[in-house]
Amino acid sequence: MNRITLKTVYREYDSPGELSSRQQVLIMKAIEAAGRAYAPYSGFRVGAAVQLANGEIITGNNQENAAYPSGLCAERVALFYAGANYPGEKIIAIAITATEHGKPLEMPVSPCGGCRQVMLETELRHNHPVEVILHGAKKTRVLKSAADLLPLPFTLSPDSKGP
Ligand code: THU
Repeated sequence: MNRITLKTVYREYDSPGELSSRQQVLIMKAIEAAGRAYAPYSGFRVGAAVQLANGEIITGNNQENAAYPSGLCAERVALFYAGANYPGEKIIAIAITATEHGKPLEMPVSPCGGCRQVMLETELRHNHPVEVILHGAKKTRVLKSAADLLPLPFTLSPDSKGP
C-alpha cells in the first residue's frame, strides 16, 4: 500500500494591484462580463475572461435557463467560444469573478468540477498550462495551471499524456 499526498500551490493577493497589468486587464474583463450574465434564477453572476496566445481576450458569463440544467457556466461559455472560433490558438490564462444579487463576492469564486474538467482538457489539447486567476473583492488567487484545481482528472487515455 502506498499513501499518496497531493499538494496544490496557489498565490493569494490582497489587491489586484499586486498583479501584472496583463492579469489586471483580464480581471477587469471578467468583472465586466459578470455584469452581462443572464442569471435571473440564482442571482449569481459569474464572469470569465480567457486570454489567447495571440493576445485576444474572449469573455463569457453564465447563461441560465428555466429548464435549469440547460444553462451553462461562465467559464465554459468563454472556453467553448474560444475553442469554436480559435481552435488553433493556445489559451494562456482565465480570470473568473462573481457577484451575488449585485454584490461582488469578497472571497474568490472557485470553478465547479465540470469547468475544471474543461479547463484541464484545454491544457491537454494545446499542451500548454492555463493560468487560473480567481478574483474576489478581498482576495485574488492565482494558480499556475488548471491541473492544480483538478487532481486525478478523468482522461480517456490515462496511460498517455492527453488526447
Ligand atoms: N456558475 C458558473 O458560471 N461557474 C461556476 O464555476 C459555478 C457556477 C453559475 C451556474 C449558475 O448559473 C450560477 O453560477 C449559480 O450556480
